[in-house]
Amino acid sequence: MARLLVEKSPPLKGRVKVSGAKNSVLPIMAASLMSEGTVTIKEIPELEDVVVMKDVLGAIGSKVQQEDKGVVEITTPAIWSCEAPNDLVKRMRASFLVMGPLLAKKGKARMYMPGGCNIGVRPVDLHLKGFSALGTEITQERGYIEAKAKKLRGATIYLDFPSVGATENIMMAACLAEGQTVIENAAEEPEIVDLANFLNKMGARIKGAGTDTIRIEGVKQLGSAEHTVIPDRIEVGTFMIAAAITGGDIIIDNVIMDHVVSITAKLKEAGIEVMPYGSSVRVKGKECFKATDVKTLPYPGFPTDMQAPFMALMSVAKGNSVIIETVFENRFLHVEELKRMGAKIKIEGRSAIVEGVPRLTGAQVKATDLRAGAALVLAGLVAEGVSEISDVFHIDRGYERFEEKLKGLGAIITRVQ
Ligand code: UD1
Repeated sequence: MARLLVEKSPPLKGRVKVSGAKNSVLPIMAASLMSEGTVTIKEIPELEDVVVMKDVLGAIGSKVQQEDKGVVEITTPAIWSCEAPNDLVKRMRASFLVMGPLLAKKGKARMYMPGGCNIGVRPVDLHLKGFSALGTEITQERGYIEAKAKKLRGATIYLDFPSVGATENIMMAACLAEGQTVIENAAEEPEIVDLANFLNKMGARIKGAGTDTIRIEGVKQLGSAEHTVIPDRIEVGTFMIAAAITGGDIIIDNVIMDHVVSITAKLKEAGIEVMPYGSSVRVKGKECFKATDVKTLPYPGFPTDMQAPFMALMSVAKGNSVIIETVFENRFLHVEELKRMGAKIKIEGRSAIVEGVPRLTGAQVKATDLRAGAALVLAGLVAEGVSEISDVFHIDRGYERFEEKLKGLGAIITRVQ
């Protein structure tokens, strides 16, 4: 299994371009199967999760064709299976996002219940609550969820928590339902807006995406569309931290600053210079930066996906910080790994108390999930000696050419098999 060897690196310098957002492209690909025509999606990152979604769509009946680099064309002449294969659902929870489109198109879907994962239990009750409100009969048997609806009818749905996946799944199903659907307490993430924009290009009638109330007027069918995926705000944040932690000075291209407001605010609070211009941002680190408290929240709050990378930064900050995780119940697995590298962190319930240390030291550590893996790479850039990171497949799920991009900025990092 591949490992990454990360050596203490000089301050990062240069330019890096951010890829299309993983969390946008996955629901957009799932939504494509509702189109009667051809869908062209641009800025698709080369990621393991994208490969899995291509396989899911292929198993359902879509033809997914890679055009130029980063461009994929999807047509679905016929849906021959209303079930995503178990092994794919187990590999990637986001496979569950085909449930809404399948219900909308065929009135049925059968899917293996996606299990918990390293970062928490992650139930799908809110997705199912939404589908039921739209008139779907849901049965759960031997680990399978079976959903059937004679006709989807619009409804008002209140989400107990603004779940990203549930908002997306319900929004997609509602596009072809009869009448109006209102999702209250909807997730407001930029990826929801990107998905809604894409669905509207296909002919859907969605208003309010990006606010906590989304209104969807059902239409009879959806057609062809061409869409460019938004930049990955979590990748932007990760490179911002790479510059900050190494005391570097880098320019990040393909950035929507409005999507990284909370990350920018926290970095500035720590004393890092963040200078946006056009669709780029220059981030200039300091030899010494301040400890800064952070609490993860649904958008526009500080993203849970940035919690581990931010903790890597706080591990070497001046002073103590408190990092509170409110979105997932078990997203501190990176703490033990950072501690192996010399970080001083204590967990108390949902809080991590980080005591900044002057230096970290290279160690053998394990990427326990995608963002935890990124955090360890960031810590490795400033740790004395070599850090050996195993289970790199987690990182490959969500960062396109991560080590290549870092190398381009001067990081000393190699992949070994
Ligand atoms: C998405 C992102 C992930 C990000 C997360 C939160 C994708 C592909 N993944 O995941 O990177 O970390 O948003 O920003 O877009 N919950 C329930 N019941 C449900 C659904 C969710 O209780 O039916 C809970 C979850 O267990 C979790 C919280 O809600 O504690 C947030 O989950 P959700 O917003 O649904 O995350 P995902 O869509 O899975």
